[in-house]
Amino acid sequence: MQRIATGELRLVELSRHYGDFVAVDGIDLDVPAGSFFALLGPSGCGKTTTLRMVAGLEEPSAGRIMLGADDITNTRAHQRRVNTVFQSYALFPHLSIIDNVGFGLRRLKVADWKSKAMEALAMVKLADRANQRPRQLSGGMQQRVALARAIVNRPEILLLDEPLGALDLKLRREMQIELKRIQSEVGITFIHVTHDQEEAMTMADTVAVMRDGHIEQLGAPAELYDRPATAFVANFLGKSNLIPIELIEPGVAVITAVTPGVKIPVAPQTIPATISEGLHLGIRPEKVHLASGGVQDDRPQLVGQVSDVSFTGVSTDYLVRLEWGQEFTLTQPNDGTSRARLGERVTLTWDPKQAFVVGAD
Ligand SMILES: Nc1ncnc2c1ncn2[C@@H]1O[C@H](COP(=O)(O)OP(=O)(O)OP(=O)(O)O)[C@@H](O)[C@H]1O
Ligand SMILES: [Mg+2]
Repeated sequence: MQRIATGELRLVELSRHYGDFVAVDGIDLDVPAGSFFALLGPSGCGKTTTLRMVAGLEEPSAGRIMLGADDITNTRAHQRRVNTVFQSYALFPHLSIIDNVGFGLRRLKVADWKSKAMEALAMVKLADRANQRPRQLSGGMQQRVALARAIVNRPEILLLDEPLGALDLKLRREMQIELKRIQSEVGITFIHVTHDQEEAMTMADTVAVMRDGHIEQLGAPAELYDRPATAFVANFLGKSNLIPIELIEPGVAVITAVTPGVKIPVAPQTIPATISEGLHLGIRPEKVHLASGGVQDDRPQLVGQVSDVSFTGVSTDYLVRLEWGQEFTLTQPNDGTSRARLGERVTLTWDPKQAFVVGAD
């Protein structure tokens, strides 16, 4: 008998329409059991709608949802081995922390509900708060209680819809690390929805970038960052400099933003096989260097004038205005090497293998 790992989630051509509007547009997705998976995308791209369909709170217009070997598309919400944590913790204010966590188990008349709830509270490091009320806890602690409540009955999948959205930045960073630790300890599949790219990249094994109801690209964080498939993904996951180019021979492109075009080396392995029109060369700000002295022949070389210098502590950000008016962003570490001044003419270079090529958006 073929065994499909429990906790593995598969979405097959899953769609949700509201009248003529397509909120989720035929998503195909495999989330391996035990992984930390992030759904990342701008507001309105369909993240919550997708989660709600997995939770059974929203009926798909088409497609199927598989959990392990089971088709759960038509299974009622409370019968799915799936729990959800929302941005608002929704704890019962009049119940103690332990009673909040054990609430569901108690209702199901689970005999050892108390020890199970204590175990879940220990997992989120709040065992010593078991007898307090929610209002005696900070926002971050309350969110950890909500998490304990969601894992206490050991679901196969935990859905997290912007669970850190209400927390301030410092607490948010702390909770990101906590959530990662808890996920690796309990081994439950986590599907984490966020529109914060840094949050998705620091936490998840795999990130799916969503746009207008579909998945634009899926991969490990470093893969998406270093080799975005589209300009949208490149811009959504951090900053990048995009220059319009045309390929003229293997390994050589010409910059079309200026006449006559400027030749520039492009590493063949960075060129996608499927796109030929509207090509843009992309370079991340930290991959661009200020060239002091000569630049090797096989390296790109662009000349411009420094139009802004911002010191940020660990690094300095520069804007450099190129010949055709485009402003290039670059970040240089403050490692004691020389810096450029405002108004200075500088030469920019980079390793062609660290650039990428995408089609027009
Ligand atoms: N019940 C509904 N009726 C009509 N349209 C809806 C309904 N629910 C969601 N939508 C629409 O579907 C689209 C996707 O909504 P969804 O809540 O999934 O977005 P999201 O990616 O979670 O966004 P956010 O980051 O703002 O939470 C939006 O344009 C929204 O207006
Ligand atoms: Mg949402």
